[in-house]
Amino acid sequence: MTACIVGWSHGKFGKLDGETSESLIVKAATDAIAHAGIEPKDVDVIYVGNMNGGFVRQEFHSSLALQAHPDLRFKPSTRVENACATGSAAIHMGLNTLAAGKARFVLVVGVEKMTELNSAQAGEVLIKASYVAEEANIEAGFAGIFGKITSAYFQRYGDKSDALAKIAVKAHRNGAKNPFAHFQKEFAYDFCRTPSDKNPFVAGPLKRTDCSPVTDGAAAVVLADVGTALGMKQAIAFRAAEHVNDFLPMSRRDIIKFEGPAMAWQKALASARLDLLDLSFVESHDCFTSAELIEYEAMGLTAPGEGERAIHEGWVERDGKLPVNVSGGLKAKGHPVGATGVSMHVMSAMQLAGTAPEGLQLPKAKLAGVFNMGGAAVANYVSILEPLR
Ligand code: COA
Repeated sequence: MTACIVGWSHGKFGKLDGETSESLIVKAATDAIAHAGIEPKDVDVIYVGNMNGGFVRQEFHSSLALQAHPDLRFKPSTRVENACATGSAAIHMGLNTLAAGKARFVLVVGVEKMTELNSAQAGEVLIKASYVAEEANIEAGFAGIFGKITSAYFQRYGDKSDALAKIAVKAHRNGAKNPFAHFQKEFAYDFCRTPSDKNPFVAGPLKRTDCSPVTDGAAAVVLADVGTALGMKQAIAFRAAEHVNDFLPMSRRDIIKFEGPAMAWQKALASARLDLLDLSFVESHDCFTSAELIEYEAMGLTAPGEGERAIHEGWVERDGKLPVNVSGGLKAKGHPVGATGVSMHVMSAMQLAGTAPEGLQLPKAKLAGVFNMGGAAVANYVSILEPLR
């Protein structure tokens, strides 16, 4: 155990007209510093997680965090990017900085402002997180990549549209209780299962309700070394933090195996000396419902091809043996790509501290697993979190 989350903040996710990436960064940073109970001058190092790639004209984001307070001027601040795992990548940079003894307090802000573009334009930006030399012409943006993965999965294991619809229903049922979520409403099973004008096919077997939305938002954490964290009012420790990258081209991998995510999970559980079912809950990267389905297999909850059991038999529901995405996940909470990994850690920290919003708080939250993924199972981060005391 090397470091802790000692403060956090989470803004409302959604289509945030009138906000800019700058305003989102400033609010998230200000609130996280206040929540940690430190002063801006105490922050030693800053990382800003932002994918961008053309979502907004402003590309150079690191020093925008300094706008939160004059005492942040001259602090070292760096923008970090690793596709949809950008938020976790920024947290890992913070953990490395603490492990190197180069800081006592690190501020990590994750942010994305996506909705200045329409969905098709956002898809053009997101497809840049594929292997452009071979995959850029796949239609429907990044949904097209997962449409292809989902079709391949269905070919090998049979049509799993029932399971995907149930995963969407679960996400929205949970998200309806999350005041930070983009969508705070429940979706009926028949609506998610049946193609319609309001729920058209987007890519391959994926319908609109199988996709995470295009979302604006920001979240932030303050990290500290364990010695410092012992004196703080709240401290959620990293029992493990693992990062595994796989080849970028899908042609070099068996794409429905999610081998990189599986290895990240195995390494994290081994270093935490835990079994998967020791965890109280998991926040997993459901950019598409089929991603969550395959992640059940990658985390070791079911054998390959049997992921549907986890949803059909209720294991991953709020009251199941391993609740997955109690926050609503990317599907309902939204997926502002640079913010997502930070958001997953914040949602988990709130659960472990017993301060999650009413209706969202789990009765017994002792150990959390977080899985954040960049690209199609390419940049894979698993954290295991527990209260320090
Ligand atoms: N899930 C459920 N409902 C959604 C939705 C989603 N993902 N996205 C939009 N909607 C709803 C809107 O709220 C709106 O509802 P209303 O008519 O009641 O107001 C309606 O659908 C139309 O919204 P619109 O934005 O015009 O939809 P769209 O068809 O342009 O976009 C997607 C839908 C799925 C194509 C878009 O959200 C998308 O591209 N998602 C994937 C993003 C992505 O690839 N992220 C990276 C993953 S790695």
